[in-house]
Amino acid sequence: MIFSEEQFVGKHLLITGATGGIGMTTALKAAELGMHVSLTGRNQDKLQEVADACRRAGDSARVTAIAADLTKEEDRTRIVEEAEAGGGPIDYLVNNAGIAKGTVLERLEEADLRDVMELNFTSTVLLTQEVFRHMKARETGGGIVNVASLSGLRGVHGATAYCGSKFALIGFTQSFAYEAIEDGVRVNAVCPGFVETGMAKDIIKRKAEREGISFENKYDQIVDGLPAKRITRPEEVVNSILYLLSPAAVNIIGESLKISAGAVMHG
Ligand SMILES: NC(=O)c1ccc[n+]([C@@H]2O[C@H](COP(=O)([O-])OP(=O)(O)OC[C@H]3O[C@@H](n4cnc5c(N)ncnc54)[C@H](OP(=O)(O)O)[C@@H]3O)[C@@H](O)[C@H]2O)c1
Repeated sequence: MIFSEEQFVGKHLLITGATGGIGMTTALKAAELGMHVSLTGRNQDKLQEVADACRRAGDSARVTAIAADLTKEEDRTRIVEEAEAGGGPIDYLVNNAGIAKGTVLERLEEADLRDVMELNFTSTVLLTQEVFRHMKARETGGGIVNVASLSGLRGVHGATAYCGSKFALIGFTQSFAYEAIEDGVRVNAVCPGFVETGMAKDIIKRKAEREGISFENKYDQIVDGLPAKRITRPEEVVNSILYLLSPAAVNIIGESLKISAGAVMHG
């Protein structure tokens, strides 16, 4: 059987950005599939809400909520320690936390550029390093999925910092995939286009403002430009993440899986 309902039972998944649209949906699905889930994000109330929902969703799931800022070294160390204390050895890491702060280069503030690179790239690499050290020492293998973006594969108007950070994340995914597979850890990325979350709403709102049109008009224009004529839903990204983590994807390594509604068809 390629897909088994049981394949994730008792596995431990650590997910960053668990308080956001894609992260929360991933955490809930993972708990429903019987995984132990460790959730992290800065917003304590939201984190608690997601943790409670995971406990309700998964009978056998152990749920650990860790309020932390990924850009702080001491927080990254604490995330891994608390996750393993709560849910045992980490089998899977989903690097999902990210920010956009889209603007054209002329108006890009240095502080925003640094924030975007710091979270989307540097902190993600450093958390992965910490988790990988544990995976490697245990010799049990594992899986890592980086939530990149179509903006990691091709340029987009008004997103120089964000695109730069996601291209870097794809480079990291490919390069680290070579190293990690030697220890049985598969590393891949997913590359969604617009996904129905708060982040996409903010980006569409900014685009609409720049063009002097309403949010609804901009949203409709975007949908109209997609071959599938629909914006991706968070659960569709989750399906791709879980597929890449599953044994069904055993020989898929260093890949960047597009979820683009047909918007980007080249490699
Ligand atoms: N939505 C889209 O259209 C889209 C498309 C392609 C790719 N993506 C990517 O998908 C991922 C998730 O996006 P989303 O749409 O679910 O966004 P979202 O709803 O805005 O969630 C972003 C998450 O990142 C966390 N975060 C931000 N700064 C952080 C920090 N310093 N430390 C720890 N956590 C931090 C937020 O948690 P707190 O605020 O609680 O800290 C939140 O959980 C991102 O990497 C994004 O680039 C999204």
